[in-house]
This record gives sequence, C-alpha cells and structure tokens, in this order.
Amino acid sequence: MENFIKQHLIKANSFHPYFEKALNEMLLAGGKRFRPNLLLAVVRAYNPLLTENAKYAAFALELIHTYSLIHDDLPVMDNAALRRNHPTLHVTYDEVTALLVGDALNTYAFEVLSKAPMHSDIKVELIKILSENAGANGMVLGQAIDCFFENKKLNLDKLKFLHLNKTGKLIAASLKMGAIIVNKPELAEKLYDFGLKLGLLFQVQDDLLDLLDESATGKSSGVDENKNTFVTILGENEANKKADILAVELEKELNEFDENLKNELGELLKKYLYRHKN
Ligand code: IPE
Ligand code: IPE
Ligand code: MG
Ligand code: MG
Repeated sequence: MENFIKQHLIKANSFHPYFEKALNEMLLAGGKRFRPNLLLAVVRAYNPLLTENAKYAAFALELIHTYSLIHDDLPVMDNAALRRNHPTLHVTYDEVTALLVGDALNTYAFEVLSKAPMHSDIKVELIKILSENAGANGMVLGQAIDCFFENKKLNLDKLKFLHLNKTGKLIAASLKMGAIIVNKPELAEKLYDFGLKLGLLFQVQDDLLDLLDESATGKSSGVDENKNTFVTILGENEANKKADILAVELEKELNEFDENLKNELGELLKKYLYRHKN
C-alpha cells in the first residue's frame, strides 16, 4: 500500500509556496492503514489477482480517513497539535491550509476511485458505498454530533450512535467495498454488519488510548475530557469491559466466515480481538 500511495500522491504544481507539500504531508506521515488493509484482506481472500487494482479503492478510503483526521484536529474541532507522530497541518502552516488540504483529499478520493481499473458498474457501487458512509449519514454526521455535544452528556445509546457514525461506518464500508470488488454482494452485507461492530470496538479502544501518553500513540492525548466517549461516560473499567465483550462477539462471528477470509482478517484483527494477549 505504501508504494501505491507514494506513486499516487496529489499533484498541484503552482506558485503557492507550500500547498502541494501540505497536501501530501499527513498521508506520508504514516498511520496504520487499517481501512485499506481491511479492504485488501477481503480481496486477497477471494481473488488475490485483483489486489493491485483494488489498491485504488483502498487508497480512496485512506484519503477520506486522512481528510477526516486533518479536519478533526483543527482548533474548531478537537484542537490537536500532534497526529501520526507529526505536527498537525494547522500548526505547521495555518488553519486555511489544513481546511483546504482536507477538502482536496476528500475530492481526490473520488477522482482516484473513478480512475480505478475496474468495471464501471463496480466503481459506481464503490463510489456509492464510500460517499454514503463518509458523508452526512456517516462519518460527517458522527463528527457533527461529537462536536455539538461536547460538554453535554449523552446516554449510552446515543454514544453508540455517535461512534457507529463517526468511526464504524467507514470501517464497515471498507470491508463491504472489498466484497463488492470480488463480486460477493451477500458477503458485502454480512461484512458491513461485522464492520460496524468492529468499528465500535475500534473506537472504544481509541477512547482508551486518549488516557495514554502522546509518545505511545503519536497523537495528542487528553483531548477527550469534555467529549462523549466510552471512557468519559462509563469510566475506564467499564470501557475495557465493553471492549472485551465486543471482542468476544467479533471473534465468534469471524470464526463463521470462510477459511481464507478468517485467515486474512484474523491476522489483521488479532490485536483488537485478543486485547490482553499481546
Ligand atoms: C483514528 O483512526 C481516528 C478514529 C477514527 C478512531 P486510526 O487509529 O485509524 O488513525 P491512523 O490512520 O492509524 O493514524
Ligand atoms: C476521530 O475521532 C474520528 C474521525 C476523524 C472521523 P477522535 O477525535 O475520537 O479520534 P482521535 O483520538 O482524534 O484520533
Ligand atoms: Mg474528534
Ligand atoms: Mg480527535
């Protein structure tokens, strides 16, 4: 994935002194590439020959995710200075740059997807899944609720709704897009539901990360104090218990998938599913 990203960086050659550099900076800063890897795991499980072409779709997911992080760190949102072990764009440059880089990554995701070497029908379906889950009824909605309800406590059901939208839907979309690429629409629906639950677990664990030192996570910590998170609503112990329960349920569901998929996803998910064993 890393080579693919390096070969498909955004070009915006102009007399602007640093816009092009800023455009690619957070992509190159790293990150776990969790969403692209989920998509590629599904493709590898069913049709490894499609892996190279699927990287266009995987990259589109990473572009949307990276844009969401850049905006998430802005002073009007979470006001974070560190991301991926790297100073955030509004710190290095200015808020306008961070805002516009986010916008550009968002639109570039769909440019990349439209240029993928795949059948047009598949591409339209992928664009539909990605846009539905990233937009006003997905990640963006989650972020809107996350920010509006700062300093206002939500109940557990609403917190779950927030997390499913903010984080769960893009993770679920990653798995579903993989299944669409290998032409398995029924599996796509199953994987979407699995992905929502996985996304919830991922976000509960992310809430717990906020308690750790920046040097351990590579991103600003302690920024969740006034937010609705599993830690602020339930406390650290209960948040851990919740994560354990989700992990056990997911492990069971994973074991019901086809052998190849189980192996591909199992490897990728082991640090989330077997939380205490590593
Ligand atoms: C962090 O996502 C933000 C959430 C949605 C929880 P990741 O933990 O995937 O961040 P990177 O991509 O590794 O930096
Ligand atoms: C980020 O959520 C979610 C998105 C960017 C969509 P958080 O604000 O909880 O994640 P971190 O802790 O900044 O990575
Ligand atoms: Mg946030
Ligand atoms: Mg944040």
